Amino acid sequence: MADKKIIAVMGATGAQGGGLVRAILNDPNGGFTARAITRDVNSDKAKELAKLGAEVVAADLDDPASIKKAFQGAYGVFCVTFFWNHFSPEKEIAHATAMAQAAKHAGLKHVIWSTLEDTRKWVPLSDNRMPTLQGKYKVPHFDAKGEADAVFAGLPVTFLLTTFYWDNAIYFGMGPKKGADGKFAITFPMGDKKIVGIAAGDIGKCAYGIFKNPSQWIGKTVGIAGEHLTGAQMAAALTKALGQEIRYNAVPPEVYRNFGFPGARDLGNMFQFYQDFDEYFCGARNLDVARALNPALQTFDSWLAQNKTRIPLE
Ligand SMILES: NC(=O)c1ccc[n+]([C@@H]2O[C@H](COP(=O)([O-])OP(=O)(O)OC[C@H]3O[C@@H](n4cnc5c(N)ncnc54)[C@H](OP(=O)(O)O)[C@@H]3O)[C@@H](O)[C@H]2O)c1
Repeated sequence: MADKKIIAVMGATGAQGGGLVRAILNDPNGGFTARAITRDVNSDKAKELAKLGAEVVAADLDDPASIKKAFQGAYGVFCVTFFWNHFSPEKEIAHATAMAQAAKHAGLKHVIWSTLEDTRKWVPLSDNRMPTLQGKYKVPHFDAKGEADAVFAGLPVTFLLTTFYWDNAIYFGMGPKKGADGKFAITFPMGDKKIVGIAAGDIGKCAYGIFKNPSQWIGKTVGIAGEHLTGAQMAAALTKALGQEIRYNAVPPEVYRNFGFPGARDLGNMFQFYQDFDEYFCGARNLDVARALNPALQTFDSWLAQNKTRIPLE
């Protein structure tokens, strides 16, 4: 135990970090141990991680001193931010800065930053194809992460480009919904372009693959995905898995932006970015690379086989 390398994991009770903690604990001879960072060591999820063998440590990104303390003595850290908890790009950048500074202070040997593109490099604010949001962003939850890449400069960092979780059908209201015609449909503003998806739990497994091979990945950007599928292909897979017809309802991004739920405008711009730059976006998230990092990488069909009963049919 004492000679094992400690990986400190932000968001350990969540989707990305939780996948990494479990990947570390499921490989007892892998040479790593997991330090699960949470704001509440007494939550059910935190207790479950402790039971599985993780060291559970309290820290809060709103309290940079607690993060500094939580990173001390670790070999590496998995850094992720939580945009949908606060909807603030500025807060996301402040949180990334707190983690980068704590990693420097602790002299960590390998940092993984779970990031996304700063879409303003593709769609400058002057480009009116999509509205500018929150004053200076096109896709706030992407742009803030991409902008925050700079705060990790000088660290032994791997930039991990994640992508759309299929789990959004369970937790994020993106599953099949009954339309006015009484038929179930999934709705995306993607036309016939591909949605680059992944099982959320596979992100942490890929991160574990990166930690296991530092010489290959430090200083690099790596994009991952489980499958690149059109809305029609996703609807066909859902139809097969759920045993009832699920249609694909393609809407224009402008319609999606005006759906009115919190974050709809941000997500409408995100899907438009996926669609307008699909060759880049798919190319940056190579399936073979993801499978090499995580040989158990799930396809949409295999994810559905395990999760179909958890998808609410509204
Ligand atoms: N949904 C998607 O399709 C998708 C795709 C790509 C990227 N992303 C990005 O993924 C990120 C979220 O990651 P996730 O899905 O793994 O999160 P998640 O499952 O929603 O988990 C939330 C985690 O946030 C932790 N947390 C919240 N505020 C915190 C704070 N102030 N200090 C420390 N920990 C805090 C919580 O831990 P405790 O409650 O235990 O403290 C919890 O573990 C977002 O930034 C999002 O943009 C999402």
